Amino acid sequence: MPDLLDLPPELILSCLAHLNLTDIHSCLKAGNRVLASVIVNSVLIRYRLELGRACVEESMKQAGNQALADRLASLRTREDNWRNFTPRSRHTVAVDFQTSGIYDLASDVYLVGDRGDSPMPLCTGLKYMVTPPGPEGPEWRRIEAGKPIIDFGVALAEHDLIAMVTYTPHANDPLMRSIDVALIKFSTGVPHPLAAHPTLHIHDVELFRGRPGISIEIVGRNLTLSLLYWADERRDLDTLHVYDWQSGVSKMEPLSVNNTGIVFLTEDTFIIPNSLDASLDVFRIPASGSDAVPKFIHSFNLPELEEGHSILSFQCRGEPNPRSMLNFPSTTTFLPTPQTALLIFTFEVGTRRGSSEHLLVLERPPLAALAALCPFPEGVTDTDWRVWGPPCARWLDAAPLAMNYITIAAGQRVAAIAHDAGRTPAPIVILDFNPMHVEAQREIGLEVVGEDARVRVVEADCDPDAMPGGEDSEQKVEALPFAELNLPWAEPVHSLLPYVETVSTELFDYGAVLLNDANVIGAKFGERYVESLEVLHFG
Ligand SMILES: *[C@@H]1O[C@H](CO)[C@@H](O)[C@H](O)[C@H]1NC(C)=O
Ligand SMILES: *[C@@H]1O[C@H](CO)[C@@H](O)[C@H](O)[C@H]1NC(C)=O
Ligand SMILES: *[C@@H]1O[C@H](CO)[C@@H](O)[C@H](O)[C@H]1NC(C)=O
Repeated sequence: MPDLLDLPPELILSCLAHLNLTDIHSCLKAGNRVLASVIVNSVLIRYRLELGRACVEESMKQAGNQALADRLASLRTREDNWRNFTPRSRHTVAVDFQTSGIYDLASDVYLVGDRGDSPMPLCTGLKYMVTPPGPEGPEWRRIEAGKPIIDFGVALAEHDLIAMVTYTPHANDPLMRSIDVALIKFSTGVPHPLAAHPTLHIHDVELFRGRPGISIEIVGRNLTLSLLYWADERRDLDTLHVYDWQSGVSKMEPLSVNNTGIVFLTEDTFIIPNSLDASLDVFRIPASGSDAVPKFIHSFNLPELEEGHSILSFQCRGEPNPRSMLNFPSTTTFLPTPQTALLIFTFEVGTRRGSSEHLLVLERPPLAALAALCPFPEGVTDTDWRVWGPPCARWLDAAPLAMNYITIAAGQRVAAIAHDAGRTPAPIVILDFNPMHVEAQREIGLEVVGEDARVRVVEADCDPDAMPGGEDSEQKVEALPFAELNLPWAEPVHSLLPYVETVSTELFDYGAVLLNDANVIGAKFGERYVESLEVLHFG
C-alpha cells in the first residue's frame, strides 16, 4: 500500500480535508514537512480551521457559491467587526402595528405577535422581518394561525418550522378552552408537510384557571412544551410535555414542573430551572418505546441563597439549539455552532425589601460533559455549585443592565446596554466567551483602545489551583477585585471563564439590545411596547 505522503499534494489535501480539526492539528504537530506544507498552504484547510476557531459553520445557501479565499476573507472581516464594534451597516425598522407581548428572535428573523385591529388581547397571527439588510429593505410579513395564539417556538434552520400554541373556546363547552400546537411550515405558512397531524392537542382546561405561561423548544423530532397556570391555586396542570412532532405521538407522561423555562443541553437532554431548590435540573428524553417516564439525571445546585432570599422567576435560553442538520437556507453566512453556544439564565430574587435581577452565563460543553457522566454510580443526584460552577459558569452584574429580553446571546456572544440608556445614552457592550478569541486577544493586548471600541480581556476571577480539586484546595479561595458583584448568595462565587469585552465608543439611546447570529438589535420603547428596532449588522 502506498504511503499517504507518496501521493501527490492534491490527493493528500483531499484526504486531509475529511479530517476534523483535532486530527488536522495532530498532523501539523507530527513534524513532517510535506504534510505541514500541504496544510499550511491550503486555503480550504485554513478556512476550516478558522471556522472552527470562530465556532461557526457556513449556512447552506452560501457554501460553494463563492471562492474559498473570499469566504475566508469574509469570515475574518466578520470576526474583526464584532471584536472592534464596527458594524457593516445599520438600518431602522418601524414597528408600526399593534404588537402583543409574545416575540422571538431566531438566527436571522425577528418575530412578534400582531394584534392587527382586533380589540382582543390575544393575536391570531405573527409578523416577522428578516434582520440582516436585504435588497428590498426591511419588510414585515405576516404568518397566520387563524386562532388566538398564546406563544410560539421556532426551528427554522433545522426544519423551517414554527409551532404556535393556540388557546381556543372548546367546541362543546363555553367554559372550557382547548390548548393546541399548530405546526406550520414557516416559509409557506401552510401545515408542515413532515407533521403527520397539523396540530397537537395538549389538553382542555377550565376558563377560570387563566392562560398559562408557556415555554416551547424544538430539537430534532422532539418538541418540549411546559405550561404554568400562575393564576390557579392548584398547580396540578403545571406540566412539561414532550412530543415527537412529526408523528404527533407524546413521548412521555407529562412531568410536573414548578418553573417556566426549558433549555436543551444536548440533543436529548434539557435543563429545567428549579426555583424551590435553587438548582438547574437535567432530564433526558426517554427513548420511544421505553416505559416513557422522563428521566431525571442530575441537579446542578446554584450557590446557597442568603437568608431571607428566594428565587421568584427564571428565564433561560440557549441559541442556537442543538440540531442534527441544516435544512433551510439562512440569509446569514456564518451560523454559530450549537455545541459551543452559551446558555443564558436570568432570574429574579426577592426579599422582604424588594427584588433584584441576576444573570448567569453557562458554557454548554463542560456542563454537557459533566451531565454525560451522570448518573454517578454512588447514587449522587446533585452537585455542589463550588464543584461545577467555576469551570462552567460566570455571573455578570445584571443590576445596571436592561433585562427586558432573554434574547441577548447567540453562539458565544452576549450583548448588553445600561437599563437607563433610553434617557442617558450608553455604550453597547459585547462579551465574547470564545476561549480562542480570549487567547488571541491576550496576544493583541489585554486592553486595546481603538477608534470604535475599547477591547479588553476580563480574566477568570480566581486562581484555578485554589478551587476545590485544585492543587491548593485546602487554601481559602482568593477573589480577584472583579468579583465585586451584587449577588444574592451566602457564599462568594468565582469563575474560571475569561471573556473578551468590547465596549463601543459610540453611545446609544436604546431601551434594550438583542443579539442574533449577525446583528445587534437596539429596541426603542413607546409607552408599552417596542416602537422601532435599529439593526447593527456585523455579518
Ligand atoms: C476527530 O476524529 C477522530 C477520528 O478520526 C475521532 O477519534 C475524534 O474523536 C474526533 N474529534 C472530534 C473533536 O470530533
Ligand atoms: C429526541 O429524543 C430521542 C429519545 O426519544 C433521542 O434519541 C433523540 O436523540 C432526540 N433528539 C433528536 C434530535 O431527535
Ligand atoms: C415541584 O415542587 C414540588 C413541591 O412543591 C415537588 O414535589 C416536585 O418534585 C417539584 N417538581 C420538579 C420537577 O422539580
